[in-house]
Amino acid sequence: MSGSDLGAILNVSRAAIWQRVEYLKTLGVQIDATDIGYQLKHPVYLPDLKIIQERVSLAVDIDPEVSSTNTLVLETRLERCLITLYQSKGRGRRGKQWIAAPGHALMLSMGVWIDSGVQDLGGLSIDLGVSLTQALKGLGVEARLKWPNDLWVDDRKLAGVLMELYGDQDKTFVVVGFGLNLWPTPGVDASIASVGDLIDRHWTDSDTAHLINELERTIRSYPRQTSADRIKRYNDVGLLNGREVQVTGVQRSISGIAQGIDEFGRLCILTDSGAEYVSAGDVSVRPQ
Ligand code: BTN
Repeated sequence: MSGSDLGAILNVSRAAIWQRVEYLKTLGVQIDATDIGYQLKHPVYLPDLKIIQERVSLAVDIDPEVSSTNTLVLETRLERCLITLYQSKGRGRRGKQWIAAPGHALMLSMGVWIDSGVQDLGGLSIDLGVSLTQALKGLGVEARLKWPNDLWVDDRKLAGVLMELYGDQDKTFVVVGFGLNLWPTPGVDASIASVGDLIDRHWTDSDTAHLINELERTIRSYPRQTSADRIKRYNDVGLLNGREVQVTGVQRSISGIAQGIDEFGRLCILTDSGAEYVSAGDVSVRPQ
């Protein structure tokens, strides 16, 4: 669409449209200026609040541009789901950044209070990754869970989960943030996987609602699940089982063959000197 047509729709000048286009380009949206007007390289996902809220019982907010949805949900401690198009300070696990161009990733955080102490939620973050992997499978996106909670497709990262907890011994505010690549963001990481390259249709608001419902259900039902159920669910989608891995933590690094998880969500690694259990770390996997 041309700059003048866009200006007429939005009731602003052509120059204002040009400025906005240039700004979006600095954030990583690929927009070509062609003979017939501006053209997006990839369709941008613009979530529609009404459609999503109709399908979800948790209160949903959409804020087009935020610092980090996890930070905001954690600050307010209100039960809700916050979706954004762009984060200026998106956070990943272990202090890493999460960067995606506007509309190129589904980025959301959900806050839910549950009657369990923080000490009893050791395996929840893994369980959330398991549920998302299964929910995406139901939408036609086949991924595996790379412990602790990255979703990978063919050794490329498709999505990440960041869980943060606030609470005490009997009540916890669980915040789960989820970033799912819909399209690659130029200049970020060439080796990521994207939904747009995996399925033959556009991402929809009903897909988003499905993931929100699955996350909420997983958090609320977690205290009632047995650890045997969780371990089985993990084994059905785990990427690392039987693979040679190196887990780098703050203090030390462990190499060996990854097994399943234990009841606390720790990864069991068979090393030369026996089984070791790790609760956190960066995992590198030896290619098969
Ligand atoms: C990781 O891969 O290390 C976790 C990435 C989590 C990213 C999501 S995007 C929405 C939410 N808000 C954040 O700041 N981070 C999470």
